[in-house]
Amino acid sequence: MAEDGKAEPSRSAHGRPLSPAGEHGSAGEHSPAGDHGSAGDQDSGTVGAGQAPSRPPVGDPLALEDREAVLAHAAGLILAAWRSFDHPRAGQPPVTDELRASLEGPLPEGPQDAASVLDHAARVLDASIAQSRPRFFAYVGSSGLEVGVLADALMASHDVNVAVEAGGAGLLEAQAVRWVAELVGFGATGGIMASGGMISNLTALAAAREQALPGARREGASGSRMSLVCSDEVHYSVRRAAELLGIGGAGVRAVPIDTRHRVEVAAVADAIRRDRAEGIIPVAVVANAGSTLTGAVDDLASLAEVCAEEGVWLHVDGAYGLPAAATSTKGHLFAGLERADSATVDAHKWMYVPKPCSVLLVRDVAALRRAFSHEETYMPHGEEAELHAVDLTLEYSRPLRSLKVWLALRVHGAAALRAAIEANLAQAAYLAGLLREHPDFELVLEPELSTVCFRHLPTGVTDADADRYHLALAGALQSDGDVYLAPARVDGRTCLRACFVNHRTTYEDVEGVLPTVTRVGAQLLDRQGPGTLR
Ligand SMILES: Cc1ncc(COP(=O)(O)O)c(C=O)c1O
Repeated sequence: MAEDGKAEPSRSAHGRPLSPAGEHGSAGEHSPAGDHGSAGDQDSGTVGAGQAPSRPPVGDPLALEDREAVLAHAAGLILAAWRSFDHPRAGQPPVTDELRASLEGPLPEGPQDAASVLDHAARVLDASIAQSRPRFFAYVGSSGLEVGVLADALMASHDVNVAVEAGGAGLLEAQAVRWVAELVGFGATGGIMASGGMISNLTALAAAREQALPGARREGASGSRMSLVCSDEVHYSVRRAAELLGIGGAGVRAVPIDTRHRVEVAAVADAIRRDRAEGIIPVAVVANAGSTLTGAVDDLASLAEVCAEEGVWLHVDGAYGLPAAATSTKGHLFAGLERADSATVDAHKWMYVPKPCSVLLVRDVAALRRAFSHEETYMPHGEEAELHAVDLTLEYSRPLRSLKVWLALRVHGAAALRAAIEANLAQAAYLAGLLREHPDFELVLEPELSTVCFRHLPTGVTDADADRYHLALAGALQSDGDVYLAPARVDGRTCLRACFVNHRTTYEDVEGVLPTVTRVGAQLLDRQGPGTLR
């Protein structure tokens, strides 16, 4: 934009023509005077005695020709995608031989028409599994909220790096983090944005390790043994964090769960005391606030009590489930959250914005500083010892991911977000009801949040067949593409798992689940026969 607010003319209209470098001639052949500046320019080129400096003889080799038209074309493709997500489609388009061949070509050396290449990209994406589709129930993932898509385009255009003090963008990010904390009811003093739950969990646990074993970031464990105490059904990112932080996978105390898949609080306290008695330092308790497998929410208030008594950091992994803390239906499950030291919320899961976008909330930002602050010659802090975001986080270059959360909350408002989450909770409860009533289906577990684990047990599928049948059934459903479901193992049995985290899903979509599973299951049994499943 020009300063007067009018759109500037296209750069390519003013810039040098986009011909290959050779066509511009060499530095020696090119006249520097006219469009390349005057002899007075001293900022580039080598100046010989009495010789005017010359600029390199090329324009911007990456200037986009006709960018207004390309932008309008891209907008059309995005709109077409959004329209296609409004309704379920009949099936998953196959990756055709033609499409495959189109993706096996060599490095393109010359330019190609941008609109045609964008069309090709859209075709590839259309033949890919997409969580934005309303019957994609396979995993806990984002559903590409439209303002989030626009935020991403705007964010990438400005390409602000919020690794360092970044002016307005830093303020916006801080506001978005505060809003997320307020939405879920976490008394944060602050937090940081991260690429995903893995990084948020790792960041929190790095801070916890520094608190439990001060100096560990510099000295290493120095012979100390450390542990992490959590549910047997914690997400693997927590184990991976233990592996990376020198706690070690063997230092993860996977505590048994109750019938609702919540960690046994007394066993958590026992594990801490046992480790202490053996000279092992418990770095943190990690609570599930919506486990990936079943949506279980641990008893946060009781765990906070144990952690306060034992002086251990409480981290809440709410990557999936924590947005449900904002609802009136399930908010009570999260009581005690406000006493946690840190909590992960993935906005790219149940806050609907596109990946990547995670929020780590912390009670005491100083704990992040103790774990991450540093000063390098390329990033001095000045007299005030002011902090950059890199002093609080694991990542360096960081895009302004918070813009999509900020825009989503401003454009839709928190009330609409809560309503969408409530709708997903209701859809899970609705499916659970349909399963309970159907003689060929078994509801494996009452849904705690929006995840429903179930089995299809038509005549002919015996207990002995059931695990293999469900694996085969999940594969067949994914090829069919009407509803997209994945297999899971719950209490040692393979089942299907439907996760409702999509704002586009309707009750008709939920009603489509059982008939589709019945149809695809029947086709599978017809093809294979139950005996061959064994
Ligand atoms: C509970 C939980 N924690 C952490 C993660 C990891 O998050 P991400 O994939 O964003 O790194 C997931 C992913 O599904 C999750 O469900």
